[in-house]
Amino acid sequence: MVPRFPDVSFVNLDKLTYAGNLLNLTDIENAHNYKFVHGDIADGDLVQRLFDEHVFTTVVHFAAESHVDRSIMAPLAFVKTNVIGTAMLLETARHAWADRAEDPARYRFFHVSTDEVFGSLDDEGMFSESTPYDPRSPYSASKASSDHFVRAYAHTYDLPVLISNCSNNYGPFQFPEKLIPLVILNALHERPVPIYGKGENVRDWLHVHDHCDAINLILREGTPGDTYLVGGNNERTNLDLVKLLLDLVDETLGRSPESSRELITFVKDRAGHDFRYAIDASHLMDDLGWSPSYSLETGMRATVEWYLAHQDWLNAVSDASYRDYYAQQYEQR
Ligand code: DAU
Repeated sequence: MVPRFPDVSFVNLDKLTYAGNLLNLTDIENAHNYKFVHGDIADGDLVQRLFDEHVFTTVVHFAAESHVDRSIMAPLAFVKTNVIGTAMLLETARHAWADRAEDPARYRFFHVSTDEVFGSLDDEGMFSESTPYDPRSPYSASKASSDHFVRAYAHTYDLPVLISNCSNNYGPFQFPEKLIPLVILNALHERPVPIYGKGENVRDWLHVHDHCDAINLILREGTPGDTYLVGGNNERTNLDLVKLLLDLVDETLGRSPESSRELITFVKDRAGHDFRYAIDASHLMDDLGWSPSYSLETGMRATVEWYLAHQDWLNAVSDASYRDYYAQQYEQR
């Protein structure tokens, strides 16, 4: 395999919680410039040891507890990983990079965050970099707090930070607690497809490959200290999106058109469910020249095809602990 970014050495620190899986990394696991470390960003000794062992110039901080429904059931894991874990990385980086004598411009601490920090929109308007923070779930409160820590380290210690806040990601290897893989998995097995409330909530969908391209671009060309919003320009109500997905499943599996729509089941709404997210990505588009390459239709078709071609992966991740979570989350609804 030809390694991507052959001139860069990567160390991937991952706790491998329920949502992480080494099966997702098989295509890079033997690359000469890649090393995997199993561990927790909130483990200060481990993070310090890694900074001592390697000469890091860049931290790209993706690690997070990310599922809103889980944050409603058990918020404290979100405080530990998202708030304390982020503070641990910041604190270690600021000491390790205290004397950036050699080429200070090379250092970057990149925090990958979410549009949920801005709260909820009505039918009109979009989030931009100047929208005030208004997090409304334990998950978004923890991500807002981590964003504030990142900015505080930039302001107080001059740490060279970048922040991106993205809309809903979708694509390969997404754990089937999130709407899109959950719908595909349930449709595949002809199980009910749960839609919260009336399905009128609106999300903006961003293909994960477009998101990764944006992160790579911001990391290399973004202005230190800046925040960039990343959106797919693909707003849909949940009900419309689920119908599109079910129709694609029917088409790919050769079922009668629209037959899987019968699986749609309206269930009790999520507590505090944000109504709508939408992103104005013009800072990223105008200043760095990024634009999403996937339309909703091309991205969803590719995604349905990927999951249906990777049923072994779906079976492996929807194990006993997933089934327990599913029962806890959906049986009472
Ligand atoms: O906006 C970015 C955020 O998008 C990320 O920061 C979060 O980590 C990510 O989980 C996602 O948050 P959402 O809550 O929007 O994603 P989720 O896939 O859980 O739900 C999408 C929409 O679908 C939301 O309005 C809730 C609804 N939904 C979700 C599930 C799991 C249902 O109607 N039924 C379901 O079973």
